[in-house]
Amino acid sequence: MNEIKTIGILTGGGDTPATNAIIRSVFVKAETYKYKVMGIKNGWDGLVSGNVIELKRDMVSGILDRGGTMLGSARVNPFKIENGVEMVKENISKFSIDSIICIGGDDANIIMHRLSQYNIKGVGIPQTIDNDINLNDYSIGFDSAVEIATDAVDKLHTTASSHHRIMILEVMGREAGWIALYSGIAGGADLILIPEVPFDYDYVVDVIEKRRERGKDYSIIVVAEGAKPELKNAKVEVKPGLNNIHQMQFGGIGNVIAKEIEKRTGYETRVTVLGHLQRGGKPTAFDRILATRAGIKAVELVHEGKFDCMVCFEGNVIKSEPMEKVLCDYKPMDLDLYEMSRIFY
Ligand code: F6P
Repeated sequence: MNEIKTIGILTGGGDTPATNAIIRSVFVKAETYKYKVMGIKNGWDGLVSGNVIELKRDMVSGILDRGGTMLGSARVNPFKIENGVEMVKENISKFSIDSIICIGGDDANIIMHRLSQYNIKGVGIPQTIDNDINLNDYSIGFDSAVEIATDAVDKLHTTASSHHRIMILEVMGREAGWIALYSGIAGGADLILIPEVPFDYDYVVDVIEKRRERGKDYSIIVVAEGAKPELKNAKVEVKPGLNNIHQMQFGGIGNVIAKEIEKRTGYETRVTVLGHLQRGGKPTAFDRILATRAGIKAVELVHEGKFDCMVCFEGNVIKSEPMEKVLCDYKPMDLDLYEMSRIFY
């Protein structure tokens, strides 16, 4: 028999334009089962500090198309805090939370999975603009980020051709080049650089020069922030933070590449770092539908008593997979698609 009465919902890691759309869907579906929904503030921090509020229907009304997360987010890991897990357990019991729905990327869901070993019940929803969650063709928020990045590529095209410049667009993706690849293809970039395939400066220059020979005196390069050159002496600037990799500030590869291109070709090269613009604004219709379906599915899983699992999208099919299976590996890059994109260079 299902003994769930109260669901706690949290959003961890980087937000997306579609995060609120998931929260709304979870609440509405939970209401159909008469579950109470507690909003855990600022990711896992809310359960460490006891920052939890009861959600009401009017609080989730009108948020479908609003970017960000009404619950707040943070990259806090209770396993890295002294007595963190104890505090989480205390607050779960204090707020009578029977099950958690964790909305986030790998990091937030790894915490959910580890907590299940302490008898804490939970279900994960794959949400990150990075699109790097294993066994998920799409993670929620990715499509919206791609739309924003594609719009930026389109805009850079016009000014690049007017001023005969090389334009580099640096997009998010520390370990995964999905945003760069999709927006690069959609925007007709002349070169796409992703973390999964270290690049060679000779090749970069060759692509630019071949375009010149064809009469194109400008080029657009889309680079993921985690892209790395093959050359050992070219450095990506990484500013180390306090505790973990997510406190490192990535970014900077665009400028490194620009300097090298100018040095080797003499062509004026400008850089646009798109940054957090990719995580804001309205979600696309596609993301709103994914978010809505995922929220409903997560509550159904809770209702069926299926825990320690993650909602997964395989094509148009929504299903669930054990957390362990999802989190044991990175999602492999679609190298065929990357290869395909090269015929346009
Ligand atoms: O996890 C998504 C992501 O957008 C990455 O692509 C990016 O590197 C990172 O978050 C930035 O995170 P923060 O906003 O915490 O600096």
